Amino acid sequence: MVKINKLDENIDIEGKRVLLRVDFNVPINDGAITENSRIEKVLPTIKSLINKKAKIIIIAHLGRPKGKIVPELTLKPIAKKLSNYLNQDVVFLNESIGSLVIQNSKKIPNGKIMLLENIRFYKEEELNSVSFAKELSKIGDIYINEAFPCSHRTHASVCEITKHIDSFAGKQLLEEISAIKMLTDNAKKPITCILGGSKISTKSGILINLIKKMQNIIIVGAMANTFLKYKNYNIGQSIFEKNQENLIKNIIQESKKNNCNLVLPEDVITSKNHNSKGVLKRLDQINDNDLILDLGEKTLQNIFKVIDKSKTVLWNGPAGYFEIDEFSIGSKKIANKISDNTKTKSLISIAGGGDTIAAINKFKCSNGFTYLSSAGGAFLEFLEGKMLPGIKALEIN
Ligand code: 3PG
Repeated sequence: MVKINKLDENIDIEGKRVLLRVDFNVPINDGAITENSRIEKVLPTIKSLINKKAKIIIIAHLGRPKGKIVPELTLKPIAKKLSNYLNQDVVFLNESIGSLVIQNSKKIPNGKIMLLENIRFYKEEELNSVSFAKELSKIGDIYINEAFPCSHRTHASVCEITKHIDSFAGKQLLEEISAIKMLTDNAKKPITCILGGSKISTKSGILINLIKKMQNIIIVGAMANTFLKYKNYNIGQSIFEKNQENLIKNIIQESKKNNCNLVLPEDVITSKNHNSKGVLKRLDQINDNDLILDLGEKTLQNIFKVIDKSKTVLWNGPAGYFEIDEFSIGSKKIANKISDNTKTKSLISIAGGGDTIAAINKFKCSNGFTYLSSAGGAFLEFLEGKMLPGIKALEIN
């Protein structure tokens, strides 16, 4: 493990402009935040900066606007939420860089907060642009990364910025890394990884490396659809990832070679749309206009058998469209099973990712897990043993 630059607790930051990168990538429905744990996670850091009378400028992203202004992905509702939590006004700026932002950053009273608009509205963010990062760095006197969930992204406000301003790792970020490290470094075998969710684009690449470390990999959610399609099942209108045939072939071959048991759905709950009732179907019964929205009971029983034999379970990505009760049964039963085994069979269980944590909170089983990580993709890449670029950027030379 590299030595990471930490902010000395005793250093005087009164009146200093602290550029705080956080992960507020939370679910928002019609402008209302439906799950707050990523915001709550970072509150101790913000409160400590308030107590130290720093001028706090928050950088965050929401969704994947791909460098364009997408009004539904504004961070405005989060400024309001933060004000409620902190009992003080949080100034929201429509922009994230430029002379106006710099001027405003200097005018913030000590102990007060300014939240900048979604940093991913600028295409330069994901390009890790040097000039953009330099501009961003002018908004603060020091920079703190408290955004573990996006520290696997080589983006300007996570990586390049650290070359242009004194940069430190946040307390929550450090605590999260050491908790995951402690629980996974010498994890007891058999280790089972449950992978699901709708964000599939980067996960299939991760899978190929996880195969070598896990005894069981259970694929659920939209990622499973890609596998089912590869196996020539009709998945109707369900989401899946295109052009993955070679990768999937490779994953199946590698899992055999490494004795990793790959578990896929054998039955599913389908519907014509998100508002209709679910129908239990075998894989060969799915029609052209069906959507796969949850797991079937036979698949769940297979999963439970694997969980019962496991000593460590890592879970990222819900099993179905858990936001709607009709399609939340699979995720709920998996959450309860892991939670029960953690309590009664000394299973070590870690779940990570915004949606997964939202699902676990919805089913009120957060107390049943050994550790809940705020990160999804970053958590998986960390498990692969990769050095995350955002962490590497904070390395002491
Ligand atoms: C997350 O939600 O896992 C992080 O915010 C990263 O989001 P991304 O996968 O869109 O980069």
